Amino acid sequence: MNVERHNLYIGQLHISKETKYKFFYLIARRANRIPLAYLLKKIYFYGLEFHISKGVFIPRPETESIIVCATQLIKDKSKKVNILDICTGCGVLAICLAKVFPFSKVIATDISKKAVNIARKNVFSHKLQSRVKVLGADIVPKNLCKKFSLIVSNPPYLTADEIEQADEEVKKEPICSLYGGENGMRVIDKILQMAPDFLERDGFLIMEVSPSQIQYFRELKNTKLSLISIYNDICGTERFVVLHKV
Ligand SMILES: C[S@@+](CC[C@H](N)C(=O)[O-])C[C@H]1O[C@@H](n2cnc3c(N)ncnc32)[C@H](O)[C@@H]1O
Repeated sequence: MNVERHNLYIGQLHISKETKYKFFYLIARRANRIPLAYLLKKIYFYGLEFHISKGVFIPRPETESIIVCATQLIKDKSKKVNILDICTGCGVLAICLAKVFPFSKVIATDISKKAVNIARKNVFSHKLQSRVKVLGADIVPKNLCKKFSLIVSNPPYLTADEIEQADEEVKKEPICSLYGGENGMRVIDKILQMAPDFLERDGFLIMEVSPSQIQYFRELKNTKLSLISIYNDICGTERFVVLHKV
């Protein structure tokens, strides 16, 4: 109805038939477990508003910790950092990092065309076209020859069983944003393989993973990367790994 919520209680509002119809249509869809974000077509992340649409992963509040973690690793916000966001989805990490580091240049990649389109729309809404480029790619484009001080990623990391046990709403999200192969590590492994080639000598890779994958990082056998810290999510569960080049 385009009014503030309090007007619904205090005003003598005339609710048109059309509004009632739209309202009950949305309620019916929500009753079918369609996520609210897909109905409202917008979400909030790190205090900013973003477009979202069916077919694109809905950002979760815990992922905001990647931004906090980045600001702890790179204290000087006026630094001209090059940032790469792999698996950007609707672009929240790329856009928030570009805002937090106002002199940064950001490249964001995603394999899904729908995600790339929505991420570009969000970059445009936040007027960041000159500093944030969104590219369609499997991990990174083949011709990318750039080094980054910071690589971030929230890749798909669930197993088939974990998806099976998830809420109905989660199952309405695109499978390629959730499923990380048999052990959940398919995309993570690809990122671990390519990251050393794209990281600056003192650069960082921050990645969100499943709590069950943290042990893998503790015992990481990668000659080019080493684990420097593990961060908890807002529920106190270990969920973020920070790695750097050996
Ligand atoms: C869990 S979502 C994260 C989206 C966003 N970073 C966020 O936190 O809201 C994972 C994203 O990875 C993308 N993706 C899956 N496989 C990929 C690949 N091989 N290369 C690039 N992107 C991939 C999916 O399309 C999806 O948008």
